[in-house]
Amino acid sequence: MAERRAALVTGGSRGIGRATALALAEAGLDVAVTYKKNEAAARDAAAAIEKRGVTALVLAVDLEDRAGVAAALQRVEADFGRLDVLVANAAATAFKPLLDVGEHHLSRTMTTSLQSFIQLVQGCVPLMAGRPGSVVAVSGWDSYRSLSRHGLLGAAKAGLEALVRSFAVELASRDIAVNAVCPGPVDTDSARYYAGATWPQMEANWVQRTPAGRLGRPEDIATIIRFLSSPDSRWLRGQVLYADGGLSLMTEPAAWFEGGVA
Ligand SMILES: NC(=O)c1ccc[n+]([C@@H]2O[C@H](COP(=O)([O-])OP(=O)(O)OC[C@H]3O[C@@H](n4cnc5c(N)ncnc54)[C@H](OP(=O)(O)O)[C@@H]3O)[C@@H](O)[C@H]2O)c1
Repeated sequence: MAERRAALVTGGSRGIGRATALALAEAGLDVAVTYKKNEAAARDAAAAIEKRGVTALVLAVDLEDRAGVAAALQRVEADFGRLDVLVANAAATAFKPLLDVGEHHLSRTMTTSLQSFIQLVQGCVPLMAGRPGSVVAVSGWDSYRSLSRHGLLGAAKAGLEALVRSFAVELASRDIAVNAVCPGPVDTDSARYYAGATWPQMEANWVQRTPAGRLGRPEDIATIIRFLSSPDSRWLRGQVLYADGGLSLMTEPAAWFEGGVA
């Protein structure tokens, strides 16, 4: 019988994280999902994971809390005894113009995106020892585009991508592959919540410039993360995959390429 593999997905209770947890469960991995506040959503994700015939573990973790992250890693070790895949997905920030950013906003954003990533990878390495491991970080298009009120998160995501490249080199000799996926806009409850009343206008603007003709769905990103966690992608190291239906290629509405404008 094949060995059971195990994954840890931060923010696996909602949005892209939840879709990723389910995609990994479908591939036969036991999955630990973390959440911060919404326990009901995490329990719901766990039930959906277990429906796929694998074991789910639910962990309440605030990524700003080093002791909490350490405790979560200990639970993974106690319950699964190993880890094969780490997906660093959760993020938190204050969506503000940079002129309004305070010290606590900076600290919160960098701690959740960068400090926790370093701590999680350091903690996962011993749990991956002796077998191929995969680390996938979830970046975002604010890492390379100037998006309104995303200045702080964009800086954190750019830093995350830099960490991915260095970890990829440092961990290559341990057979741990480290990569990132960089989504464009994805239709999640968080994205809608933060956009508020501007959502319909933002969505229409993005769709118009996306060659694939729609917004991303959580499952679009989840299947790419599953690929980056699978034996099929072992030759990818330290790469950032842009997953956006072609949006990052565009400066004009996609329809103009179809002869709409002379
Ligand atoms: N949606 C997009 O358009 C988009 C585009 C590009 C990149 N991304 C990136 O994709 C990732 C997922 O985004 P998303 O839209 O699915 O939702 P999200 O709001 O970024 O993530 C939701 C998950 O993160 C958890 N979480 C929030 N703050 C946390 C903290 N301080 N510590 C630990 N966990 C925390 C939430 O738990 P609770 O529910 O319990 O609070 C929930 O499980 C993020 O890194 C985001 O930057 C998203």
